[in-house]
Amino acid sequence: MHFLNKLIWPIPALLAWGLAWASFAVGQVWLPWWGALCVACTCALATSLWGGTWWRRVMIALGFPLSWMVLAAGSFPAWLWLLPLALLLLVYPINAWRDAPVFPTPKGALDGLAAHIALAEGAHVLDAGCGAGDGLKALRSAWPQARIYGVEWSWPLRWLSALRCPWAVVRRGDLWQSSWGDFDLVYLFQRPESMSRAAVKSLGEMRHGSWLVSLNFPIPDVAPVYVAELEDGREVYAYQAPLAEVDYDSVLSDEIAGMLPVRPQGIVVQGQSLYPRKGRPGGNMHRH
Ligand SMILES: C[S@@+](CC[C@H](N)C(=O)[O-])C[C@H]1O[C@@H](n2cnc3c(N)ncnc32)[C@H](O)[C@@H]1O
Repeated sequence: MHFLNKLIWPIPALLAWGLAWASFAVGQVWLPWWGALCVACTCALATSLWGGTWWRRVMIALGFPLSWMVLAAGSFPAWLWLLPLALLLLVYPINAWRDAPVFPTPKGALDGLAAHIALAEGAHVLDAGCGAGDGLKALRSAWPQARIYGVEWSWPLRWLSALRCPWAVVRRGDLWQSSWGDFDLVYLFQRPESMSRAAVKSLGEMRHGSWLVSLNFPIPDVAPVYVAELEDGREVYAYQAPLAEVDYDSVLSDEIAGMLPVRPQGIVVQGQSLYPRKGRPGGNMHRH
């Protein structure tokens, strides 16, 4: 399906809208109208991944429900106009917007890393923020002997990645609240501003010798053990625990520079909440 987001815009959108309308029409043969509507909206959600950018995905996801509502206007209750908003919130819950919207890891992006990072049979590998499952697939392709885990904030994306990657253990949750201590390798494809947080988590939780791998975004001021260049020019950075010391002030200034409000509960490291937001439950900000 990767070729679809390379097609000239708006061809992916036209295909996606056509598919959603077709599934609505076919769905009505077996299902009540609302059942067919749910099927078509699910189709709109899934095909939104064909958009190469965030705005294109929004347009693809909203095309069917909006056009259906315009056509059906007058014959349904007013609250149904909230449907497109609900769809949007389902794909990109507000919490996940702060870190990274869905951009999939390209196929085979991690191939070749195994020559530098040897993982034992049954090693535990986590895709932290696994989106629609492309990172899970890339991890499996690179380390087929490993046990692959994923954590994802968005319910439908968690569901989609579990469907696409039945061999992985995928759960819904916050990657900053989950422990990274049980993993031999944690893979991230988030945002530049997320990387100093990742350093804090890694330093506090990851076992000596385990790996933190990041696509596209390096950890500031930490030298990677290995850097691989992808065909599209992006880089994959591999760090081995323990990382060098992480500076409290630089993490905080990265959070502010990235306009990522420190989340109310902070970043949980070894069960302890670091950087809790000022004036919120969890107490005032203090140094650890
Ligand atoms: C750029 S996408 C990468 C998806 C996947 N790892 C891949 O490489 O194909 C980032 C994903 O992280 C998820 N995410 C962002 N913040 C999160 C959080 N705090 N907890 C769990 N998932 C999160 C987003 O919903 C999105 O699906």
